Amino acid sequence: MRINWFPGHMHKAQKEIRQAIPKCSLIIEVLDARIPYTSMNPMVGELRGDTPTLKVINKVDLADPKVTALWMDHLNKQEGVTAIEMQGTIAGRAKAILQVGKKLLPKDRSDGKPITTIILGIPNVGKSTIINSLAGRKIAKTGNIPAVTKQQQRISIEQNFVLLDTPGFLWPRLTPHSCGFKLAVTGAIKDAVTEYEDLAFWAVRYLADNYPSELMARYNLESLPETEMEILEVIAGKRGCLGRGGIVNLNKVSQVVVLDYRQAKTGRLSLETPAQVSQELADAPPDESAKEKRKRRKAERR
Ligand code: G4P
Repeated sequence: MRINWFPGHMHKAQKEIRQAIPKCSLIIEVLDARIPYTSMNPMVGELRGDTPTLKVINKVDLADPKVTALWMDHLNKQEGVTAIEMQGTIAGRAKAILQVGKKLLPKDRSDGKPITTIILGIPNVGKSTIINSLAGRKIAKTGNIPAVTKQQQRISIEQNFVLLDTPGFLWPRLTPHSCGFKLAVTGAIKDAVTEYEDLAFWAVRYLADNYPSELMARYNLESLPETEMEILEVIAGKRGCLGRGGIVNLNKVSQVVVLDYRQAKTGRLSLETPAQVSQELADAPPDESAKEKRKRRKAERR
């Protein structure tokens, strides 16, 4: 599946973020607990240098707690990275971010200048919810503000603590191949640019391989057939997603499967583990060629 969700103004946003990251004292990146690797912006790893980075694992209530624990361990082992899980009330979450974030700031702040922190996150990851709670008021989403030429906005959180908000965006090239499916199944990519059938085929394969009992329990199945199509057919039968003459309505059953997953009706299920991601990266075709890279950089500069 090809993802065509990279509108022109996002090149501008990407360029501005590239310029802003090196000037910030702390980077906060909000990640989706179901897909922590896939929801990570590759630019952060590339540009953060020595800047402390706080990875905020959000939507924990939708993810498999055992897998989230593996990701917490994995991320906290990385140099300069601290990961925290968002649990409890929204207000409590903001408090935890501030507390941990402040501890990561450089000790010597004798110049009295406000600390600038950049906050990043893909669309729908829950970044605005967190920002509103940090700020104690409703803040308009960046990129949604008419007549604002800059893609970023500065939000004063506390005296000497400024948050630089950036638009939630996805990057044009997604590696490995499964990233596009994971983003779409979790709802980060707008449904208009994807087909439910494509997503459901990918989702039932992943769930049948990794969470067979949860999948069977949700749809009251005694066993799981082998192929994705057969699995969708039996679910369609159970859910009445049938047209005239008992023919399976593939679009309808696909929507059921995807929406059930997004709302955690199938269970708290994650779509990647650290081990699966390493394996997929090892199996992925080589990274973009030098020529493709030059072309991309040129497009970003424009
Ligand atoms: P964004 O700025 O990153 O785009 O995300 P935003 O805060 O607008 O949140 C997107 C959706 O995710 C919202 O649902 C929000 O309530 C929900 N959300 C945020 N944090 C969490 C969380 O920890 N767990 C769960 N389960 N949901 C969370 P929404 O307003 O209903 O929008 P929609 O997703 O139905 O479009």
